[in-house]
Amino acid sequence: MITVMNAKTIVLANQKGGVGKTTTAMNLAAALALKGKKVLLVDSDPQGNASSGVGVTTSDGLPQLYHCFVGNEAADACLRPSGIKNLTVLPSSIDLVGVEIELISMPEREKKLRKILRPLRDRFHYILIDCPPSLGLLTINGLTAADSVLIPMQCEYFALEGLAQLIETTRKVKKTLNPGLYIEGLLLTMYDLRNRLTHQVATEIKTHFGDQVFSTVIPRNVRLSESPSHGQTILEYDRNCPGAKAYERLGNELLRRSKQL
Ligand SMILES: Nc1ncnc2c1ncn2[C@@H]1O[C@H](COP(=O)(O)OP(=O)(O)O)[C@@H](O)[C@H]1O
Ligand SMILES: [Mg+2]
Repeated sequence: MITVMNAKTIVLANQKGGVGKTTTAMNLAAALALKGKKVLLVDSDPQGNASSGVGVTTSDGLPQLYHCFVGNEAADACLRPSGIKNLTVLPSSIDLVGVEIELISMPEREKKLRKILRPLRDRFHYILIDCPPSLGLLTINGLTAADSVLIPMQCEYFALEGLAQLIETTRKVKKTLNPGLYIEGLLLTMYDLRNRLTHQVATEIKTHFGDQVFSTVIPRNVRLSESPSHGQTILEYDRNCPGAKAYERLGNELLRRSKQL
């Protein structure tokens, strides 16, 4: 039987920095790949942390996402393998910073990433897009290219601040650029079991968003912050630590949810 793949494309967005977008993009991608899914991790953040975090070096002069945006390079020519079978990377580096400005004068500037990724959709089961911490054109491009948005949220006092703006932006993109867009889920990250504030914030988020919140919660786990400096996802670095187990559970939850669609 020939199965035609049409990658489910998920963008990880939150204009706050340090909430776990990149950590989730890398490790969820790895969890899905280890489940046998063909996964493409798209690094759409000029910080390039998702690329280096899975061991891809971008200082070698090879084409990267930037060249697709501004040089019409085919995405196919930029793909790199990761240390995990089934996990492919479309990497970025600081060069991507220029894209936000260069896009402004381009026609259909919000749809560029969607066009870049289109030829790849039948080669992967999942495409995960990591975004910068802003609601600028790179994030808008991510939202326009995606089927759904996954919102990582740190369980801290100001977690809900800015969320309304993110949801409003998502609605606008849905209305004008990408009618099929929906919220995949809110993910509670850096959950600290011993911290009462964490519990309070988590309860508040669940009260507001109900079953739009993933039942999987990502604990605060120092191994998750160590693994990127080794160019490894958590599933390579320490598969048995609580952070790795949580991302495996998240992968399973996502697969279960996807089947219900
Ligand atoms: N669950 C976690 N436990 C401990 N450290 C984490 C966890 N998630 C992320 N971190 C660390 O917190 C910092 C910010 O996470 P990151 O994924 O880069 O956020 P973002 O991409 O939203 O800016 C990084 O240093 C990362 O290693
Ligand atoms: Mg990041």
